[in-house]
Amino acid sequence: HKNGLQVAIDGPASAGKSTVAKLVAKQFGYIYCDTGAMYRAITLKAIRAGISLDNDSEISKIAKTTSITFAPDQGGQKVFIDGQEITEAIRQEDVTNSVSAVAAIGEVRQELSAQQQSIAKDGGIVMDGRDIGTAVLPKAEVKIFLIASVAERAQRRYKENIQKGINTPLDELQLEIEARDYKDSHRKISPLTKAKDAVEIDTTSLSIQQVVSEIAKVINQKLNAN
Ligand code: CDP
Ligand code: CDP
Repeated sequence: HKNGLQVAIDGPASAGKSTVAKLVAKQFGYIYCDTGAMYRAITLKAIRAGISLDNDSEISKIAKTTSITFAPDQGGQKVFIDGQEITEAIRQEDVTNSVSAVAAIGEVRQELSAQQQSIAKDGGIVMDGRDIGTAVLPKAEVKIFLIASVAERAQRRYKENIQKGINTPLDELQLEIEARDYKDSHRKISPLTKAKDAVEIDTTSLSIQQVVSEIAKVINQKLNAN
């Protein structure tokens, strides 16, 4: 692609996708796109509008009429819906617990996937999510599938929460992650699965830097082969 490779990073909740995707993007001077934030943004807007989560047609309408934009912010990025910043709001627990239901709606997936394909069309992008290597960018030159044990992922979420002053018990977080993994891998449309040509990395006992180096190795191999 004109601006570089398409790098797809998929995997279950708290496997480390967004953390390492941002660092990989920075290292290669690529754009970073957090597709989970897009599903979270639509979920937040539906909750704020008081729309029931089983009202597929109203939620699909929101997906088609909402402008979701990103702006770089030191080390991360800000997220906006219709110009209003929602970076923190989309991380709230009510959004986290409802997002998988919204992400199972076919028309919502169709709309957001089309937007993601348009963002990625010139390459030079690291995109993370659940279905990037399988459905959104099936021709991505680099596909990574990150996994980690559920105990480790619950522990990571726990630490993140403590830093934000939230103290949810570890076993509750583990149940929440298992429930979301289940919904994400069992939905009808583009469920979470590893693409046949993806490189799987188990991050359970790896540091962030080790995961970033592994991915950088795969990208460099592709760049050198081209
Ligand atoms: O960061 P975390 O693992 O909590 O999740 P996320 O990447 O913010 O994604 C939130 C939710 O959006 C996921 O649990 C999926 O239900 C949905 N999602 C999806 O269906 N497809 C994507 N490409 C990205 C996220
Ligand atoms: O995007 P995803 O939900 O897959 O994960 P994340 O939001 O990047 O969260 C992963 C958390 O685990 C962050 O707090 C990271 O600091 C931490 N972590 C990691 O990402 N990778 C490791 N190898 C070790 C820890």
